[in-house]
Amino acid sequence: MEKGIIDNHALTDYPIHDLLRKRWSARAFSTRKVEKIKLFSILEAARWTPSSRNEQPWRYIVFTSDNPSRLFEAQSVLLESNSFAKQAPILICAITRKMYTDSQESNRLYFHDLGAANENMFLESFNQGLIMHEMGGFNIKLAKEVFKIPDDYEVGIMIAIGYQGTNETLPEKFKVKNTKPRERKPLSQIAFLEDLGRGIQEMIKEE
Ligand SMILES: Cc1cc2nc3c(=O)[nH]c(=O)nc-3n(C[C@H](O)[C@H](O)[C@H](O)COP(=O)(O)O)c2cc1C
Repeated sequence: MEKGIIDNHALTDYPIHDLLRKRWSARAFSTRKVEKIKLFSILEAARWTPSSRNEQPWRYIVFTSDNPSRLFEAQSVLLESNSFAKQAPILICAITRKMYTDSQESNRLYFHDLGAANENMFLESFNQGLIMHEMGGFNIKLAKEVFKIPDDYEVGIMIAIGYQGTNETLPEKFKVKNTKPRERKPLSQIAFLEDLGRGIQEMIKEE
């Protein structure tokens, strides 16, 4: 591991796939350009996400360092708390269509399916040797204007993708966040056996 590059892998209680274990929301982006073929693989991963009625409601508006003035515009929607992402050579605005295309009925699962597609992108980013960071902290109203989002779409998140940089390149406030141990609720608080009163861990006690 290169000096200053952090790998904040998950400390899991049970074995999981290596890609899932290694994915994390890093903040130190290198300004190094990302190869187009890698970007396409990441978007392809989103494309193959399952969705309700196969609607595929996700849409991605991509900004890269190939067009610095447009990338700068995309950066302008980010809140100060997410300014670390201004280093990234790729910013993406992830939006999702609220209605089914065939019936024009509202799609209850539009955000669910966008989230699933985003996670596919996340995993493929790491598979490509890149990092990714999802951000809900941005000016939605401004994003709607800057990215010209039609009313039948909901703005989801901003996504930063790039090569990982060293922790030293981050401003102090982000350095601390970037090195903080990652935490999760125990399995017994998120999965239940038959009713919400029985944490799944009871299955182990039963053995
Ligand atoms: C929908 C969504 C919105 C998020 N928004 C932000 C954000 O605005 N700023 C930020 O620094 N991290 C943001 N995150 C990252 C989360 O804080 C992070 O995923 C969580 O702390 C778990 O850490 P991990 O991804 O390293 O496992 C967001 C993540 C998701 C999924």
